[in-house]
Amino acid sequence: MPSKKRKRVQERAAIHPRNKYSENPPDFGALASIYPSFKPYVFYSSRDGRPRIDWTDYNATRELTRVLLLHDHGLNWWIPDGQLCPTVPNRSNYIHWIEDLLSSDIIPDCRADGDAVKGFDIGTGANCIYPLLGASLLGWRFVASDVTDVALEWAERNVTSNPHISELIEIRKVDNAKTIVEEKDLHSGLGRDNESIEDLGNTRAVMIGPEPSSSLELQSMVEKNYHGPPILAGVVKDEEKFDFCMCNPPFFETMEEAGLNPKTACGGTAQEMVCPGGEKAFITRIVEDSVQLKQSFRWYTSMIGRKSNLKILISRLREVGVTVVKTTEFVQGQTCRWGLAWSFVPPSRKIVSSSATEKNNLSFMLEGIQRQYSAIHVLQSVESFLCSCGASCKIDSTSFKIDVIASKDQCESILNTETQNIFATPSCPYELGMSNGPNDLQSSDLHLSISVFQQIPGTLLVKGFLHQKESTGVFFLIFQKLEEFLKQKFCRPKTSAEPSCTERKR
Ligand SMILES: C[S@@+](CC[C@H](N)C(=O)[O-])C[C@H]1O[C@@H](n2cnc3c(N)ncnc32)[C@H](O)[C@@H]1O
Repeated sequence: MPSKKRKRVQERAAIHPRNKYSENPPDFGALASIYPSFKPYVFYSSRDGRPRIDWTDYNATRELTRVLLLHDHGLNWWIPDGQLCPTVPNRSNYIHWIEDLLSSDIIPDCRADGDAVKGFDIGTGANCIYPLLGASLLGWRFVASDVTDVALEWAERNVTSNPHISELIEIRKVDNAKTIVEEKDLHSGLGRDNESIEDLGNTRAVMIGPEPSSSLELQSMVEKNYHGPPILAGVVKDEEKFDFCMCNPPFFETMEEAGLNPKTACGGTAQEMVCPGGEKAFITRIVEDSVQLKQSFRWYTSMIGRKSNLKILISRLREVGVTVVKTTEFVQGQTCRWGLAWSFVPPSRKIVSSSATEKNNLSFMLEGIQRQYSAIHVLQSVESFLCSCGASCKIDSTSFKIDVIASKDQCESILNTETQNIFATPSCPYELGMSNGPNDLQSSDLHLSISVFQQIPGTLLVKGFLHQKESTGVFFLIFQKLEEFLKQKFCRPKTSAEPSCTERKR
């Protein structure tokens, strides 16, 4: 069990560095002295004398959110009893992660100078938290969708109560009378009259009228496909373009499942928390919509509650041919969630021909090596990078060579290792260029050798050799990651946008 102090340090590390609360968590005592309405919810711990609130009291958590939005963000905000109450620090992390995605150079930004960033919040809820934070913190524009009357009414109220940003946010009603059913469900003979089949990308889908037949509903629930109102396709207008979409989906399949965390009281009605098939079905639908809408969005993103679903969704993204996938982890208190982002925009940063991923020997140059470092330092770093994930490494410091044997799991672990500079934050552990994304990780071990050669002073050549014919794609990705890692560690930053050596050689 980690100590309380260590847990706090871990939590702080998981908060995005630009999050207002990363260094200064909310001070309940100070807030209670400024806001009398918050005071009744604050008590002082008999153990350490610190001010606390009862997280299982819905009124306390809602009042905390209200005062934080007012005090730290200048926002007027409220939700009716029982509606999902967001925690402000936690929701801010998602906003800052998107900010990182938008500012990264992985895919090009085609916005004209001065154009505001435009996002689409899927299922904004009564709380409308993401548009409120995105608009007030960063001046972003939003279309914010929802299906329920209460969400639409209160989201609108929360926008109009904040005239300084109300121009930036449009609340958009999703037509609840239309239900999407996967075409394969209809092929089972459960279709109805007057249905119109719409091609929503790889998976054809059908929009049908308001009341799905009970046998159809049953079938969808059994098959765990999405079966509900449109999400993006059919809601986004023709010609509309967005920089990103975001979504905190209904995570659960049942309300019982939703009520499993007795430690907090965030509210949440069945419409907000539950959908047949749970988050997997909901986000899979977003993936299918993205296949149709492709470059209408620069980044598609969603929050995910279960790591097992993250893996399944990444596989689906691989199948539909996205160009890039990013994930991150959001940890706050007892809760751990994941962020998944993908795009269909061709990447600008690394253009990899498929032949490059079929080679069993690769190399790159390390130029501008800082004076205190030599080939042996680089070799040791190669060893620590590749072997930190448990791979077996044999270093030969006379020939400046390392032999590495890594299992499938160890390869995945290497690929998931954070390279701090990909974004400004250390929270982007997974990056695969999926268009070239070799899905060829064999069950047999990967056997490779890395050698370091001295060139002119300040320049080293790193060569990699794969001892087998299969798994060249994984070898390529690992080598690419190694290049990134070593350049960050040893090389002075380049002044021009010079391509990397592996890029030039390809
Ligand atoms: C978990 S809540 C998220 C609310 C808010 N974004 C937040 O983070 O607290 C999910 C929301 O999605 C809405 N929703 C469900 N299906 C939808 C659809 N097809 N289109 C838009 N919103 C939908 C629900 O009404 C609910 O408000």
